[in-house]
Amino acid sequence: MKALVIYISVHHGNTEKIAKVMANALDADLLQVKRMNASMLEQYDFIGFGSGIYFGKYHKSLLDFADTLPMLRNKKAFIFSTSGLRKIRCIHDFSKPLKEKLQQKGFDVIGEFSCRGFDTSWAAMIVGGINKGRPNARDLKQAEDFARALRDSRPSG
Ligand SMILES: Cc1cc2nc3c(=O)[nH]c(=O)nc-3n(C[C@H](O)[C@H](O)[C@H](O)COP(=O)(O)O)c2cc1C
Repeated sequence: MKALVIYISVHHGNTEKIAKVMANALDADLLQVKRMNASMLEQYDFIGFGSGIYFGKYHKSLLDFADTLPMLRNKKAFIFSTSGLRKIRCIHDFSKPLKEKLQQKGFDVIGEFSCRGFDTSWAAMIVGGINKGRPNARDLKQAEDFARALRDSRPSG
């Protein structure tokens, strides 16, 4: 199985750190979403989609990219993010829109990873920024373990 990690990381490069660790653990190609077009997915059967969380959602370019995809078959996906605040069901459920879009395009979404990232957006700046130093070594290790567990759960080939 051939793996690809697609990401966008615009605020502090937080998600890029996670994307690199995951791509390495999966022996996957790593591409920014702005370099992607839908036909490039043909050669991959396992694809990760990641970004920071902005205004309660994954980055718009990742959601828009998912919209451009045709119906796909036999592809597995996982999603990953860094965010200022953790996910809270109903109030701050940032995964749902991306996950649903991917499922509507035929992906089997088999995993989700999220950790905190340094945040100096306007709300966080009131307290001088939050999650300084994150993702930290522990977050990166957890991201690596998550990716390895996904890798080990797939048939090789
Ligand atoms: C404009 C803006 C909006 C944000 N909105 C949210 C939000 O709704 N929820 C949240 O938990 N974090 C929010 N954040 C914090 C980011 O998700 C966090 O810093 C993330 O790690 C950024 O990832 P990046 O450096 O890869 O872009 C926001 C940050 C910015 C700059």
